[in-house]
Amino acid sequence: MVISFSCLASRMPTWILALLLLILITMTRVHGQSSTSGFISLDCGYRNTSPYKDSVIRGIQLLSDVGFVEGGLTHQIAAEFMSGAVYESQKTLRSFPNGSRNCYTLPSTTGKKFLLRALFTYGDYDGLNRTVDGTLFLFGLHIGVNFWDTLNLTNMDPSNTLWKEVLTVAPGDSVSVCLINFGLGTPSVSALELRPLLDAMYPFVNTSVSVGYFRRIRFGEATNFITR
Ligand SMILES: *[C@@H]1O[C@H](CO)[C@@H](O)[C@H](O)[C@H]1NC(C)=O
Ligand SMILES: *[C@@H]1O[C@H](CO)[C@@H](O)[C@H](O)[C@H]1NC(C)=O
Ligand SMILES: *[C@@H]1O[C@H](CO)[C@@H](O)[C@H](O)[C@H]1NC(C)=O
Ligand SMILES: *[C@@H]1O[C@H](CO)[C@@H](O)[C@H](O)[C@H]1NC(C)=O
Repeated sequence: MVISFSCLASRMPTWILALLLLILITMTRVHGQSSTSGFISLDCGYRNTSPYKDSVIRGIQLLSDVGFVEGGLTHQIAAEFMSGAVYESQKTLRSFPNGSRNCYTLPSTTGKKFLLRALFTYGDYDGLNRTVDGTLFLFGLHIGVNFWDTLNLTNMDPSNTLWKEVLTVAPGDSVSVCLINFGLGTPSVSALELRPLLDAMYPFVNTSVSVGYFRRIRFGEATNFITR
C-alpha cells in the first residue's frame, strides 16, 4: 500500500507535514554528506557501461541501467532540449513500447527502508510531440505488485522533468520498479535512484505502509539552492 501525503493532508495538520518534510530533507542531507554507501543511481538509456560522476550532482556515481532491466529501447532527448538539461541523466532515457509491464530489479536488503526516486524527461525523444498532441499521455508505476503512482505527461512541456518519490521497505533482497502501459502512450524513464535510510527514520513506514512524495519545502537555507 502506498499512502500519499496528499491523502494524509486531509487528516493531518500542515505543521506535522512540514515537520516530516523537514526531517526528510535534513536526514537525507546528513546521510548524503557522510556516505553514499548503498546508493544506486541509474541513468536510464545511457549506453556506456562505465560509471560516471555528474558535474552538478557531485560525488554521486551514476551507472547505466543495462543489467537492471530486460528489453526496452534506449534514446536521447531531442537535440533542441539537450542544452537545457541540467543533469546528465536527463539526456537519455529508456522506453518500453512492448509489454504491459516492464520491471527494473534493484538490489537491496530484506527489510531495509529506503527512498526511491524516479525521474522522467520526455524531451520529444521520439519526435512525435507526444505530450502536446492533444491526447492523453499516461502510464503507471508499481513497486512489485503494488500501485505506486500515475505519470501524467499530458500537456507537459517536453523539456520538463517529472519526478516521483516514495519511502518504502524492501520486501526481499531486491526491489522491483515497474512501468505499466495503460495504452495511453509509451512508458519511459530517465533515472532511478535508491537511497537507504536509517531504520529509526519514519517509524510509520513498514512492510505494509509506504509514503509518497507530495511536496518539498525549503526552510530558510539560503545559500544552497537545492537541499537534498
Ligand atoms: C517489440 O516486439 C516486436 C514484435 O514482437 C519486436 O520486433 C521488437 O524487437 C520488440 N521491441 C522491444 C524493444 O522489445
Ligand atoms: C512538433 O512541434 C514542433 C514545434 O511546434 C513542430 O515544428 C514540429 O513539426 C512538430 N512535429 C510533429 C511530428 O508534429
Ligand atoms: C492528466 O492531465 C490532463 C492535463 O492536465 C488532465 O486533463 C487529465 O484529467 C489528467 N488525467 C489524469 C488521469 O490525471
Ligand atoms: C505498519 O504500520 C501500520 C500503521 O502504523 C500498522 O497498522 C501496521 O500493522 C504495520 N504493519 C506491519 C507489518 O508492521
